Amino acid sequence: MKKRYLVTGGAGFLGSHLCERLLKDGHEVLCVDNFFTGNKQNIVHLMDNPYFEVLRHDITFPLFVEVDAIFNLACPASPVHYQFDPVQTTKTSVLGAINMLGLAKRLRIPIFQASTSEVYGDPEIHPQPESYRGSVNPIGIRACYDEGKRCAETLFFDYHRQHKLSIKVVRIFNTYGPRMHPQDGRVVSNFIVQALGGQPITIYGQGSQTRSFCFVSDLIEGFVRMMNSSADFTGPVNLGNPDEFTILQLAQKVIELTKSSSKIVYQPLPQDDPLQRKPVIDLAREKLGWQPTIKLEDGLIKTIEYFRSSL
Ligand SMILES: NC(=O)c1ccc[n+]([C@@H]2O[C@H](COP(=O)([O-])OP(=O)(O)OC[C@H]3O[C@@H](n4cnc5c(N)ncnc54)[C@H](O)[C@@H]3O)[C@@H](O)[C@H]2O)c1
Repeated sequence: MKKRYLVTGGAGFLGSHLCERLLKDGHEVLCVDNFFTGNKQNIVHLMDNPYFEVLRHDITFPLFVEVDAIFNLACPASPVHYQFDPVQTTKTSVLGAINMLGLAKRLRIPIFQASTSEVYGDPEIHPQPESYRGSVNPIGIRACYDEGKRCAETLFFDYHRQHKLSIKVVRIFNTYGPRMHPQDGRVVSNFIVQALGGQPITIYGQGSQTRSFCFVSDLIEGFVRMMNSSADFTGPVNLGNPDEFTILQLAQKVIELTKSSSKIVYQPLPQDDPLQRKPVIDLAREKLGWQPTIKLEDGLIKTIEYFRSSL
């Protein structure tokens, strides 16, 4: 059935792919964004579609619109951006969640929250299942994001318990793909931009820290399945790719695929940078029938093509 979706953060990396997917599935989309890290370029190809609307708005302020469901994605996601104005980052996570939950409560509609693997902090157990409660430094430089997202999860579950709101919480692990911000300091975009520019590839630490990388189309499929899952399934559910790579392996792969002459250079590890990160996705498999399908190499090729044509 055709629905009208509100996507906050819809002009961002993930949000623009979600808007595109929802429109492709025959729905209407209201994209709300304050364009802090989002970009009109990400959504310009959707502007001709009469079922797509854009509203410049900051979700730390209340919003009154009529929609059938909400995807709440608004929040800067990379350390460079979320640490630029940490108070605003916490406000976006917390006040933004309160405003969007208030809207969902008034309209009695389902609401989806883009949470993050950062709620696990620097994990003491590996890989991380949803039952793991995390190890976050509440006063560190990443806390504005990590604790903001943790508090947003608390608010979602309290609205669910107290107001019987239908909630859908996903914890996203590192995702990459076309439309990542070229200067956001995230490892995949960093390496590709450096490799294409022939600049040295910077690895923080020894490069032995691991990450798992999910291609954006796989993640968006997980979002849609989660929104359509049975009403009693609230999550939180991990969405990510459990294939684990060291940062050094990633750098070598990017150099190989871009045929770059860049050399690898090593720099000190930033404060509170997690050493390992890998999702347990058994719950997503069981409840959503979801698992990633795109191999790292194939996803990297698509992402490199995007950066080649847009830089
Ligand atoms: N990309 C990932 O790997 C990843 C991992 C974990 C979680 N997430 C979460 O997914 C969501 C989307 O991430 P992304 O990678 O697309 O990041 P992004 O920075 O590209 O997108 C975030 C969007 O939110 C908008 N925004 C920020 N503050 C806002 C505010 N106060 N009001 C309205 N709009 C605002 C930005 O302008 C941007 O368009 C975020 O909530 C992020 O925390 C992403």
